[in-house]
Parts: sequence; structure tokens; C-alpha cells
Amino acid sequence: MKANTNYGKLQSSYLFTDIAHRVASYQKENPEAKIIRMGIGDVTIPLCPAVIEALHGAVEDMSKKETFHGYGPEQGYDFLRSAIQGYYKEKNVELSLADIFIGDGAKSDVGNILDLFALDNTVVVPDPVYPVYVDTNVMDGRKILYMNADESNGFLPMPQADTTGDIFYLCSPNNPTGAAYNREQLTQWVNFARQQKALILFDAAYEIFIDDPDIPHSIFEIPGARECAIEFCSLSKTAGFTGVRCGYTIVPEELTYDGLALNRMWVRRQTTKFNGVSYITQKGAAAVFSETGMKQVKDVIAYYKENGKIMAKTFEELGMVFFGGYCSPYIWLKCPKDMESWDFFDLMLKEANIVGTPGSGFGANGKNFFRLSSFNTKENTLEAMERVKKILK
Ligand code: MLT
Repeated sequence: MKANTNYGKLQSSYLFTDIAHRVASYQKENPEAKIIRMGIGDVTIPLCPAVIEALHGAVEDMSKKETFHGYGPEQGYDFLRSAIQGYYKEKNVELSLADIFIGDGAKSDVGNILDLFALDNTVVVPDPVYPVYVDTNVMDGRKILYMNADESNGFLPMPQADTTGDIFYLCSPNNPTGAAYNREQLTQWVNFARQQKALILFDAAYEIFIDDPDIPHSIFEIPGARECAIEFCSLSKTAGFTGVRCGYTIVPEELTYDGLALNRMWVRRQTTKFNGVSYITQKGAAAVFSETGMKQVKDVIAYYKENGKIMAKTFEELGMVFFGGYCSPYIWLKCPKDMESWDFFDLMLKEANIVGTPGSGFGANGKNFFRLSSFNTKENTLEAMERVKKILK
């Protein structure tokens, strides 16, 4: 028996696990510390009433012979796929039901989709980057190239004359920087991928935070994207499903490489390795896309966005440089006085009892940056900003 030695090339632990351990050990030594968590992008507001009602209804269904559900379709129930189809239609994106796959969240599908791609593909990611894109490819042993995302390009790298690669990861609005591509920029990416016969893996997990008509919610708003892109989205941030688990992946039927349709391959992969998301969860998820559910969900997003504004105002007052916080729940803050991000993490944890995410955890270009999330409560956000003012003034 031989182990997958690629695992030896990974950092010893996943970024957010590492942070959780450091915070737990600080809390153990300082039990009185009132720590405010603005690190991992985890939500704090409970599920909206429309979702709760649908979940209860689904539990009831499972209690009766006539409405009980056993194994469901691996690709997801039509009632949820149709709801998602309708959601895209509102953005003028036409999807067939066959394009839509229900999964347990974007992270799993982003990793699992790699089953479809040859190991000698070159992967291109921005730096800084959501670590899952990198780690899942390191596990498989694929070659990874980095595109610089920094202050000079507003953390939005574009294809250059010498850009080459097979699989390109784009996340917009971006995790960790909060920067978002506009229509013109995404059009350039789609044209580039089609010319190169490359594939874009587009992570739209934060699309619900967009309220600017010039920023697309989906890459499929761009003509030609059906021939070169797969899109991942999740209800984790959209509707507070981080603990429920439900997401969706769009694999257009047109996508073909080496004579193989990725959509058929994904069906084959999912039917073989996945038994689908639970009926109860999918019923809750479908309620998100109802008129009432969507209104309730958007009210929660408005609440988080207000937190983002509170944070942005504080950093403006302090004269600090930051990105994001506009169509995104993340503020990407430049550490003061060229501090390194883990030093700033320690300062914030120890002096202000605030947890953020050190930028270097997302790549070399994050070395002097610190990510804060707006997913906490308004009270905690206000309190955190008072503490920040005290230590950074
Ligand atoms: C983050 O904090 O980057 C996200 O919550 C991680 C995730 O969605 O997996």
C-alpha cells in the first residue's frame, strides 16, 4: 500500500482549522476574554422563517407513508432545480434543468469536480486565493500557477498576453479580497478562455451581496460562457445554510473537452459517488427561492451589509487602506505600518480580542493584509470597531 504523497506537500493544517486552534488556546488561557469572531465567514443570524416552515413541513412529510422519501435523485429534486432555474431567469440566464446539480455546498463540489480533469492540466489561481482551490489540486498533484492580485490591479487579475493554463479559478465577489469583476472584465475572461479552449471554474458563493448592475451575479450572464465555464454557488452565505449544507453547481451541457461532455461526466461521477442532499434540506433550500423566502433572505443580507458599512466607516476614519466591503461580506484591510498579517492577527486577538483572518493564509500577496467578515451581529461589530479605534488610533 502506498499513500498519496501529495498530501505531504500540503501545509500541516487547513487555514481555518489552524486559526480555530490558536483562538481556542488563547481563550483557554484567558477565559474572561470576550472574543469577537470575524475570522471564518460563518453566519450568525438564524435561518429565515420561510425556510424553517419548509423544513418543519418536510420533517412531517417524512413521518407519513404517503409523503415519505427514501433515496432521492443524485442530481437533486426537480422542485429545487426548477426554483434555481427561475432564480437565474431573473438574471436573464437561461438554464436547462439538466445543467443544474444540487450538492452539499460549494466547497465540496469545487473539490469533487477535479475528478473530471486530467492530472497534467495546469491550474491557474489568483494570489491571494481561497485555499480550497489550491489544496485540492495539490492533493491531486496538478501544477499550479499564480496570477498576481494586488493593489495595482485592485485585486482583480486579468488575462495577459503571456497568460497560459488549462483551468482558471475566478471567485467574484472575491474571497478573500471582496473585489468583484464587472461585466467588461468578465467578458474579457470568457473570450480568453474560449480562445485558449481553457475552462473557468467560477465561484459565485457571494453573489447575493451584489447590488451593482455592472457586476454580474453569474458568469453565464456573459455570452459564450456556456462553452467555457462551470459555476458553483452555495446557500451558506445566501441564506445562512453553513450548518444545513446545500449548494448548486451549473455544468452547461455544451461543455466538451476531448470529445467528452463534462455534464455527462459529472452525472456519472455524482451517481457513482454521491447519494444526493437530503429531501428535508432541499425543501428548506427551495423555500429560499420563494418570493417570501427571498425577501427574508435579502433582509438578512442587508443587515450584514450594514455591518460592512460600519467597518468601512471606522477604517476610513482611521485613514486605513482597505478593499471590499462593497458587494461582499469581506473587508480586506492593509495592516498598519507594514505589519505582517500573523503579527497583526496576534495584536488583534490579544489587545482587542478580535479574530480576523491573516492575509498570508491566502497567499504571498496577502502578507500585509487582514480579512474581516461582516457576518457577526451589529452589536458585536460596533463593539469590535470601538476596540479597533482604541488600539489603532
Ligand atoms: C471563509 O471564511 O473563507 C469561508 O467561510 C470558508 C468557506 O466558505 O468554506
